Amino acid sequence: MQRVTHMTNIKIAPSILAADFARLDDEIKDVLDAGADYIHLDVMDGQFVPNLSMGVPVVRSIRNAFPEAFLDVHLMIVQPRNMVEAFARAGASHITVHLEADTPENIAQALRIARDHGVRTGLSLKPATPASALEGWLEDLDMVLVMTVEPGFGAQRFMTDQLDKVRAVRRMLDAAHPACDVEVDGGIKPDTAPAAIAAGANVLVAGSAVFGSGDYAAVIKQLRGE
Ligand code: DX5
Ligand code: ZN
Repeated sequence: MQRVTHMTNIKIAPSILAADFARLDDEIKDVLDAGADYIHLDVMDGQFVPNLSMGVPVVRSIRNAFPEAFLDVHLMIVQPRNMVEAFARAGASHITVHLEADTPENIAQALRIARDHGVRTGLSLKPATPASALEGWLEDLDMVLVMTVEPGFGAQRFMTDQLDKVRAVRRMLDAAHPACDVEVDGGIKPDTAPAAIAAGANVLVAGSAVFGSGDYAAVIKQLRGE
């Protein structure tokens, strides 16, 4: 039988890091109306990455304003286990932590806390961390996030050398846990998305490509490959 891979399997997660924060309510409404599947929230602590962004109160306000939205929270913070419960209570649908952000025991605990609160979980790798670091982690995850830029800032250039890692992660998951999603984040635009999708990514984060454009719906369609 022919294997049918449908375009709509691709999920688009606009990162509000690139939105106009003075008009955040309208920005989120507009990307959701334009067909965004998830809202991606980049939480930065000035330690794990050299930048500060948003925290728990922002997630809580967005949850209150958008009760149905899927809030994809990307924690770029050290010792995430100390904060996971607060983000879960604030209304995160999904929480991704970085494997590099603490000891394996503490990262495992962070993921456990999120799951105990009914939140989906993801594990992310910085560009220098190999796919093999995921061995032993995959079975319980809902998503693996492969960073395609050095985390910390929007509007950077897509690192094509991360495509091999996306392929390797997808291969590992096909063997160990096929239902797990592969997300890519950083430099995703209509011209870089096809290679990421071909390598096995099915959730695409896009900040500047979406919010920097005049037509959110058109860009979201292009990113999906439609
Ligand atoms: C980078 C963040 C990304 C960023 C993506 O640390 O994790 O989510 O906002 O921005 P663009 O799509 O502009 O590269
Ligand atoms: Zn992100």
